[in-house]
Amino acid sequence: MMAADGRKVWMDGRLVDFADARIHVLNHTLHYGVGVFEGIRAYPTRQGPAIFRLTEHVNRLVASARLYHMEIPYSPPQIEQAILDTQAANDILPSYIRPIVYRGEPALGVKNLAGKVSLAVAAIPAKKYLGEGSENGVRAKISPYRKPHSDALPTFAKTSGNYLSGYLAGIDAMKDGYEEAILLDQNGYVSEGTGENIFLVRNEKVYTPGLESDILLGITRQSILQLATDLGYPVVEKLISVNELLTADEAFFTGTYAEIAPIKEISHFAIGKQSPGPVTREIVALFQKVIHGEDPKYAPWLTAVPPLAQPVPRARK
Ligand SMILES: Cc1ncc(COP(=O)(O)O)c(C=O)c1O
Repeated sequence: MMAADGRKVWMDGRLVDFADARIHVLNHTLHYGVGVFEGIRAYPTRQGPAIFRLTEHVNRLVASARLYHMEIPYSPPQIEQAILDTQAANDILPSYIRPIVYRGEPALGVKNLAGKVSLAVAAIPAKKYLGEGSENGVRAKISPYRKPHSDALPTFAKTSGNYLSGYLAGIDAMKDGYEEAILLDQNGYVSEGTGENIFLVRNEKVYTPGLESDILLGITRQSILQLATDLGYPVVEKLISVNELLTADEAFFTGTYAEIAPIKEISHFAIGKQSPGPVTREIVALFQKVIHGEDPKYAPWLTAVPPLAQPVPRARK
């Protein structure tokens, strides 16, 4: 159980105590994996707390819900406000914010659209998804588990059920002593990590798999493609074979929780000559400035978190 003194969770318009954020055990989302969610980060900046790419995350949440026949009973500006209020109600920075859309009432049967669609938003202290020291490089295993094809489970949507293959791959890699798994697509091309997109660098060009490799279209990925371009590196989205990855000059994961994690070893092959490599280092340095509001060019990527209009009373001990 997470320790969460004084923490609040936003549930359908109310900020409730962390321990009271409960739903019925027969809910449709738990039984069939039909939930859609986001992972978002808030950072300290000189101008105060700010959320990275809030609008893009809300747009993806709405698109995921639409694909899964879930009509969110809040407009995108209301969802943004719920996320800002949750951040403001919880004094945590940097934080990892998790909005989730679900059917929380008892409702069994797969083809069930009857249950009420709900939104909850929680904020927890942000940690490094791939562990302390991951900024210097992680070891990853090419997984025996493959990404399901998007014709079966659209990876365009960020659904709870999509994480089953990542779970199996991630636990397998962890039990073998690696920090992360790299999943291949159904054709054997490189797809992504359990919670990250993947990039490689070769001859000062930056490569990453595209949607045809059944990836989640990461918001960090999109940001890195932009930053690499702005730094003058050509970027290419294409099918990537395992051998291409193993012989890259540099490789790294990107994701909201993992941020940018250089990959120093893949299934016992050392990647490049040093970790992080020079191109990765340059991209990380710019990314760090951007998320902390230190580069005015990218200021539109940050949304300031205003104080709550009405302060939430703290739970009595
Ligand atoms: C499977 C998967 N791929 C990629 C990503 C990276 O996406 P983003 O940069 O939007 O966090 C995530 C994290 O949300 C993920 O879970």
